[in-house]
Amino acid sequence: MIERARIGILISGRGSNMAALADAVREGRVPNAEVVVVLSDQPTAAGLSKAKERGIETLVIERRGRGRAEHDREIVAALSERHVELVCLAGYMRVLSPEFIGSFRGRILNIHPSLLPSFPGLDAQKQALEHGVKWTGCTVHVVDETLDGGPIIAQRAVRVSDDDTVESLSGRILEQEHELYAEAVSLVLASLLAESLTAKRSDSES
Ligand code: GRF
Repeated sequence: MIERARIGILISGRGSNMAALADAVREGRVPNAEVVVVLSDQPTAAGLSKAKERGIETLVIERRGRGRAEHDREIVAALSERHVELVCLAGYMRVLSPEFIGSFRGRILNIHPSLLPSFPGLDAQKQALEHGVKWTGCTVHVVDETLDGGPIIAQRAVRVSDDDTVESLSGRILEQEHELYAEAVSLVLASLLAESLTAKRSDSES
């Protein structure tokens, strides 16, 4: 039997992507996976109650005036204790330390509301409107040391209308984000599984 991949989701706020991903996992749309913890750096994050409603363990690890490296060490320890294999950032509003990224190299994903590499950073939907692009969208990418610059896993395009506001455009992008994250996680887990099967086979042959 294939063991289920253990996913940890990091949030700072509303948590709608977290909820959509957790629902996709529970409904088997992301095969062979389970969400084992939802972690927030903000005690008031609305997403925490959405996770609790779904019966998922929640953890709050606040920055409390500490440096980024120290805060991240506590988060990495909490994820490692729970044997988390894939970390999904879902509206997590902090930049990760190099140590955090190194601890989960290639196994941290983020979702961003633009077609990267266009409009990285904050307020991506506003940046798209201000630039006058006719198409924008959302991207799931691997997190590396660059800001929103890691390898792209999946994207969805969204048409910009002449009368769009930041709110209307963000809403249509968000609908696509909710479907895209589950698809991207499925792809990544399939490739991690293939890698581990290949590694096991070459171990047994040597
Ligand atoms: C989403 O637009 C996501 O792309 C961005 O932050 C927002 C988080 O929304 N990184 P939610 O907390 O998942 O509802």
